Amino acid sequence: MNTNRRNVLKASLGALGALASTSALAKSFDAVCRTTPAQTEGPFYPVKDQDDKDDDLTLVRGRTNRARGQVAYIGGIVSDENCRPVPGALVEIWQACASGRYNHPGDENTAPLDPDFQYWGRALTDGNGEYRFRTIVPGAYPADTDWMRPPHIHYKVHRKGYHELTTQMYFAGSEYNDADKILRAVPANERDSVIVSFAPADFEAGALVGRFNLTIRKV
Ligand SMILES: [Fe+2]
Repeated sequence: MNTNRRNVLKASLGALGALASTSALAKSFDAVCRTTPAQTEGPFYPVKDQDDKDDDLTLVRGRTNRARGQVAYIGGIVSDENCRPVPGALVEIWQACASGRYNHPGDENTAPLDPDFQYWGRALTDGNGEYRFRTIVPGAYPADTDWMRPPHIHYKVHRKGYHELTTQMYFAGSEYNDADKILRAVPANERDSVIVSFAPADFEAGALVGRFNLTIRKV
């Protein structure tokens, strides 16, 4: 990503801070943050390395078209069980493109791949524990004949001294959330912590912004 694009991403996601009490979170060091519920990695964790795995999944290096689908800015803070921000954590996301297809040899979905979508991205949390991505809303896809997976983004968070967290983030309001077997496996009183409400972005027409905070556990 060039510097200008990166600045736009950073500035726009700065506005996300207003959506949640990041500073309150960061200051309440004696608080208890509940660890984000782990969920299955699923079958589509990337198996092929790719040159471009930066924090903007809507553009693939060397290509000019933007990925198909609705742009979604997603950012948040990674904290520990005492709600202290965790700088330097590696946040990985992978997901289907707008048609609901993964760039993975095991995906039998016949929906078309999007050559302009980056499928997999990584970001490091900054000094305030914040990460950010620009991506698109993934499509729902069939996991079985009677089971549609709702749009979701897979996450892995790694940091030395902490347990690795593998989970999935969902979009509030999806018609497939309630019946999803993986989301339903999350205890009912923790489900809201992995469902994110997105709002229209005021800095980019048609784009959405959402905030997904994660809590990881010290070893
Ligand atoms: Fe998935």
